Amino acid sequence: MDRRIKFFDTTLRDGEQSPGCSMNLKEKVKMAKRLEKLNVDVIEAGFAISSDGDFESVKAIAEAVEKPVVASLARALKKDIDRAYDAVKSAKHPRIHTFLATSEIHRKYKLKMTKEEVLKRTYEMVKYAKEKCEDIEFSAEDATRTEKEFLVEVFNKAIEGGATVLNIPDTVGYTTPDEFYELVAYVKNNIIEDVDISVHCHNDLGLAVANSISAIKAGANQVECTINGIGERAGNAALEEIVMILDTRKDYFNYSNQINTEEIMRASKKLISITGIDVQPNKAIVGKNAFAHEAGIHQHGVLENKSTYEIMTPKKIGLKENKMVLGKHSGKHAFEEKIIKLGYNLNDEEILKAFKIFKDVADKKKEIYNSDIEAIIRDDIYEMVDKVILERYVVNCGNTINPTVTIKVNYDNEIFEEVASGDGVIDAAFNAIEKIFKINFILKDYKIKSVSKGKDALGEARVQINYNGKIINGKGLSTDVIEASIKAYINAVNKVLV
Ligand code: KIV
Ligand code: ZN
Repeated sequence: MDRRIKFFDTTLRDGEQSPGCSMNLKEKVKMAKRLEKLNVDVIEAGFAISSDGDFESVKAIAEAVEKPVVASLARALKKDIDRAYDAVKSAKHPRIHTFLATSEIHRKYKLKMTKEEVLKRTYEMVKYAKEKCEDIEFSAEDATRTEKEFLVEVFNKAIEGGATVLNIPDTVGYTTPDEFYELVAYVKNNIIEDVDISVHCHNDLGLAVANSISAIKAGANQVECTINGIGERAGNAALEEIVMILDTRKDYFNYSNQINTEEIMRASKKLISITGIDVQPNKAIVGKNAFAHEAGIHQHGVLENKSTYEIMTPKKIGLKENKMVLGKHSGKHAFEEKIIKLGYNLNDEEILKAFKIFKDVADKKKEIYNSDIEAIIRDDIYEMVDKVILERYVVNCGNTINPTVTIKVNYDNEIFEEVASGDGVIDAAFNAIEKIFKINFILKDYKIKSVSKGKDALGEARVQINYNGKIINGKGLSTDVIEASIKAYINAVNKVLV
């Protein structure tokens, strides 16, 4: 019989800790719902004690999803465990995930604790957590640099305290597949009870996925991973890669899981849309080129028979052909049907908002592709607060004059207009917006990319601003890159004002 592997997704915790990946509450709930559709077994929703915002997000996710287990991270401290439990207790399936470092380096320099103290704290804190919640995961931070006999001693204490899952993290991405196989097998053979064995691999040496696969072979039945492999430093093991390795090589690895592979692409794109962090074009599974055949000899083979150069089908991960689908005469009904076909679920208000954007785009662009529709429904329609609406902008530029931009907005039904100059058109436009609102934002990041093909491709602009220490993302969509950029900045301002 094949062994079932559970997928523990930590995109919203370890992933969110990586630079540029922070998300607000609404974005986290949206992502969590995508993860539920993907059918992950566990969603690690955050680190409840780390901030009030994190606490509220974990709580909101606990209330928003039904099927997966919802976990919050907690150090092995009573106050962390209390906060974690308060955040997850309303979930249908709550879990407290508590951790303590075990390696000599961490014991000596970080914790300043002896081995005996680590053993005692593990037992006491797991037991404390167990009094609140049935499902307790214990992680031995930096497990792969811990003396293996001591690691087992710690895990046995966690079992005595009531842990249901033991996690072996390769916190610093140090281990290698063969070595990790031996460690996981050693732990499995020496613990006093047959609880779930989990692994959590970081990618510092590019081995996170290979190490996770090795661990599964050695007996681990839970893997911790993130969408697109985001995470601390070089990231975590990429969920989509582990899933598709097990799926594509089912002939070799006889393990089952419950992941709905056709949701992979949508989950990946949702994360990119929220964070603005793209994956590299040649990224396995979800990269733009992962299913592109460029060389003539390959194209020829694929035309004859796809299996010559394709080991999995694009459909398997939910990748739809980027076909021309709608035009300016398409009605709301056709638009709505298309959204459903693409696998999205919007409520009536969202459909109305999205349809309005679609009509604007279709006025300027003859052919609307699947990628345009997907960009429209990802374009913050859920979050559009519309306190500030762009009425008009005028650009004056050339290679012999200083660019100036005039921007007119409707802010809570009052009209404001300002003109500003800058080092370029975008700088001038952003300066004009700042003049209107008399707020000093720090622009942290700005980028623009096209989401479909052709000269009239839709441009998706993103800005990231720092407002009083808070990072806020804004997005804008238009066939005109300047307009897309202005909309993105106004979208961020809207979020500040709300
Ligand atoms: O990398 C790590 O060790 C972690 C633990 C908290 C599980 O993220
Ligand atoms: Zn980690």
